[in-house]
Order: sequence, then structure tokens, then C-alpha cells
Amino acid sequence: MDFDIANPDLVAEGKLRVEWAEIQMPVLRQIREQFAQDRPLQGQRIAACLHVTSETANLMRTLVAGGAQVRLCASNPLSTQDDAAAWLVQELGIGTFAIHGEDRDTYYEHINAVLDLKPTMTIDDGADLISTLHSERQDLIPNIITGMEETTTGVIRLRAMAADGALKYPLIAVNDANTKHLFDNYYGTGQSTIDGILRATNVLIAGRNFVVCGYGQCGRGVATRANGMGASVIVCEVEPLRALQAALDGYRVMPVAEAAKVGHIFVTVTGDTSVIRREHFEVMQDGAILCNSGHFDVEVSLTDLAEMAVSNRPVRPAMEEYKLADGRRLFVLGQGRLVNLASAEGHPASVMDMSFANQALCARYVAHNERLPIAVHSVPAEIDNEVARLKLAAMGIAIDELTPEQKEYLSSWEAGT
Ligand code: ADE
Repeated sequence: MDFDIANPDLVAEGKLRVEWAEIQMPVLRQIREQFAQDRPLQGQRIAACLHVTSETANLMRTLVAGGAQVRLCASNPLSTQDDAAAWLVQELGIGTFAIHGEDRDTYYEHINAVLDLKPTMTIDDGADLISTLHSERQDLIPNIITGMEETTTGVIRLRAMAADGALKYPLIAVNDANTKHLFDNYYGTGQSTIDGILRATNVLIAGRNFVVCGYGQCGRGVATRANGMGASVIVCEVEPLRALQAALDGYRVMPVAEAAKVGHIFVTVTGDTSVIRREHFEVMQDGAILCNSGHFDVEVSLTDLAEMAVSNRPVRPAMEEYKLADGRRLFVLGQGRLVNLASAEGHPASVMDMSFANQALCARYVAHNERLPIAVHSVPAEIDNEVARLKLAAMGIAIDELTPEQKEYLSSWEAGT
């Protein structure tokens, strides 16, 4: 079996980590048990490009239980947990190509190694695998029934491809399932971003001016958690509706140029480029902390910062100091990459349980239904509802059912005042 990981001897640590995550992933476990009986993915070859974590290891285990042949590479050079990768190779026996801290060339070599599987399905987080397939490996596209995309940034890229007429096979936007983005993006990013900041810096959040750039589900989650810890939250947005929501949620809303002057901690979660740049660094306070929780490392312009800095040194794991000519020091976490994965462990398993349950059930769905038209599709509502139902059951939460009278009432329009 082909693989490329940091150290296969980390398998024992990996096993402990994967098993601990599994306890928090009851929905995925149930799906895995069902898959082991039904083998719905028999004959499928799945190329996956995901953050290589203990939660992802549990998804891989589910796909393998379903009968699929799987290869996995990292969707970010800094998010790989090398022990989880060792477990995937040594215990699960799947071709894993991921090394924490790999350089850009290795990152793309790994994507290509995964594509050498000649996949019938793809699973992506950020659309780098899909984009490589469409640009360099087009010969493989006819084999592919459908792909799944995990994250907002990836779905935006796919929609851009579809609009350009460049998309060559159907994709399911797993990110857009309610049981994904309302939980993973909000609770997952909210908690794990704070976790990443705390592990990198050990700063007190209370009393700080905490600037959140972007008020989508992820930004909202980060703002809620920072607020809960006593920060004074400032939101920067470009969309009027979201800015208004932030204002009515009780936060100060202002342009980045204003927030830059007063902020102590900055988090970007916009999905766009150069959100914090030269003009903002120029007015920041000494000691400001900068990090990103959006998919790519382009939101805080490290190019501008490197040009402005007179010196640059690592001061703690996952934290670098940039000294400016006037003596001010700005601190960047996780090299401007996803701080929750670069300096912590990503979203907690309990929330990835729902995201990855959607992935597994979508894989079964596409294996057993007619090929979808080439477009970006929603997760079928039955799958979304099934994931919510299974999660509630696993949490021991019962809910009411509509009475026949209530059902009738909802479907009638005559009754009024
Ligand atoms: N994305 C965010 N957190 C993650 C995790 N723990 N595992 C896989 N993908 C993730």
C-alpha cells in the first residue's frame, strides 16, 4: 500500500485519539454499523481531501465499513494530526498522504497520489482536490459519479466553477445541510477558534476588544463565544443584513480601519482575501494578536506584514512576532492558517459527528441513485432530517409529534381569527 505520513510509529497515540473521538460520534458509529451489514459502498473508490484528524479517521472507518476503497490526503498543510494519520495507515490500512507542516509542493503531490486511486467519488474540504482534478487530471473525471464538498469556501468555489461552465461532474454541497452549517460552522468554529487562540497565547479574553471580521455562521459562533468569555466584541462586515444582525445581537459594528485602532485580538472568518492588510497594520496597537479561522491563509495579508516588519521571530508554538519600524509588535497565530486546526484540534468530535454523518449518507445516496446532473446540489432533505433525528436520539432527547388535528390545521387555510 502506498502512503506518505510523518511517522507510522505514532499508531498507539493515534488509536487512543481516534477511540476517544469515536465515543463522541454516536451517529457516525450507528451509520458505520449499518454500513458494515449492508456494504452500500462496495466497489466504490473514494478520494478524500480533508483535515486529517481523529474525527476524519472515524469517517474513513465508516466508508471502509461500507465497502469502499479509500485514499486520504490533507486539505491544509497544518491541520494533520500525525498520530491519526499513523492510525489510518497502520490500523485501518488506507493510503494516507498527509504530514503536519508539509510544504506546498508536497501538499499537491499528496493530492495527486490520492487521485491515482482513479476515484468514483470525491470528498473535499475547500475544493483543492476538485480544482486539481479539473485542471490537471481531467482524464479521471469520466469515472466519477459525484463528489461531496464539506466547507463554505469550497462551495463558493464550486458555484463559481458551475457559473463559468467549468464544472465537469456533479457535487453535493454538504456544507449547506442544516445539520452541518448550523452546528459545525457555528458551534464548532466558535469553540475551536477560541480554543486555538487560548492554546497559542494563553491570553485572558475578558475585557479585550475582540474583533471578528465576517458575520456568517462561523463569525457568529466566534463572536458568541468571545462575548460569553467577557470580551467586548466588534464585528466588521460588508453585507448590510449581516452587519445589522451583528448590531442587533449587541455588538459594535465598524469598518476594519476603525476596529484596527482599538482591537486587541483579531479573527478573520470571511472566506475572502486581504481582509486585514497594510493600512490596518499601520494603525494597530502594540501587542495586537491576529489570526484567521477562514479556510485559506489569505485573509490576514502576511505579505504586507512581512514587507512592513523589520524583524520576525517565533515566540511560542503557533505564534510569531512581527516587529514594525516604530517598535510596535504584532503577533500572528498559526501562520495565518485556520487557527482552530493549526493551534488546536479543530472542531470537537461531537459536532463533526453530524457533518460526517452527512458525508457518509450522501456517499450511500449517490452510490444508489441515478447520476445527478452536473451542478452543485443540496443534501437531500431526508438525509439532513435523518441526521438531526439520529443526533437527538443519541443525546437521549425526545420531542413531540404533531397530533392529527395539528397536521390538519397546518394544511388548511380556511381557519383564521
Ligand atoms: N474541520 C474542522 N474541524 C475538523 C475536525 N476536527 N476534523 C476534520 N475536519 C474539521
